[in-house]
Amino acid sequence: MNNILYKTAKALLYHSPSISKSTLCKIFGGKRVIISGASHGIGKALALKLIEAGADLFLIARTESELQFLHDKARQNGCNVRISVTDLRNRNELDRLCSVLKELPRVDFFFCNAGKSINRRIEDALDRMHDYDRTIDLNYKSLVALSLTLIPKLRQSGGKIIYTSSASCLYPAAPGWSAYHASKCAANIWCQTADSELKHKGVRVQIAYMPLVHTTMSDATEMYRKLPAFSAEEAADILLSLSISNKRCYKPWWASLTEIPAICLSPLIRKIYSLKK
Ligand SMILES: NC(=O)c1ccc[n+]([C@@H]2O[C@H](COP(=O)([O-])OP(=O)(O)OC[C@H]3O[C@@H](n4cnc5c(N)ncnc54)[C@H](OP(=O)(O)O)[C@@H]3O)[C@@H](O)[C@H]2O)c1
Repeated sequence: MNNILYKTAKALLYHSPSISKSTLCKIFGGKRVIISGASHGIGKALALKLIEAGADLFLIARTESELQFLHDKARQNGCNVRISVTDLRNRNELDRLCSVLKELPRVDFFFCNAGKSINRRIEDALDRMHDYDRTIDLNYKSLVALSLTLIPKLRQSGGKIIYTSSASCLYPAAPGWSAYHASKCAANIWCQTADSELKHKGVRVQIAYMPLVHTTMSDATEMYRKLPAFSAEEAADILLSLSISNKRCYKPWWASLTEIPAICLSPLIRKIYSLKK
């Protein structure tokens, strides 16, 4: 894609909100914020912004060195911080983490952001049931387990769960993404149900239908590396802006316009998909 076209598409399609540091400090200063998937990509950018804002952080991921880096940075900035090196796909480790979280006195925000994507067609996955276990365990079950643990704490503070979902869930199912999309869509349904059940008890559950973001995850698909996309920092701003709003969800403006037409055109879209090898 040539440079001017790239920049125009980026400016038009990938516009992120900007939130001033003083607003972030006012809202998040001293608030207890839990972030899963804090070690890389969107979660790391989010953690760095919340360190600047003086939040009290609890950071979860598997890569200890990255969590330690954030821990040291948070301490230098005068923030309270705890890290948990946890493989959220491992049931024993997840249960241990939940026991630790149960002991926290208060929780204000839970950014449920850890995720794994797999791009593989079903015919290439006939002997790979583990693809489906891995995505459902991380993208769906760990969201549910952590949320069930945190809901009583969030109820005390009128807190929020913010789930990093995918804009692709708004469109007809695309070939190659069965494991990823099924797990993200399951999580969306859980979040929507939880929001309608818990809203009147003071807990909000919000979904960010995130479009393409340049991170290690998306850059694993070669085609995506060349496309305009949000940076991890811009995606973090979207999550923060959603968390301080009353909205049910974030969708890019073009998704709000194209979602319904895409559903109406889904027989045609499915036909085109079926022609692709
Ligand atoms: N990038 C995109 O285009 C895009 C678009 C829509 C939605 N999203 C969603 O955004 C979220 C963040 O993705 P990203 O793009 O920032 O990807 P990323 O850079 O690969 O980061 C993924 C994060 O999840 C953590 N994680 C992965 N497996 C884990 C496990 N088993 N246990 C605990 N933590 C684990 C990783 O940490 P460790 O490896 O250290 O464990 C890392 O911190 C995901 O939920 C993804 O589905 C991304």
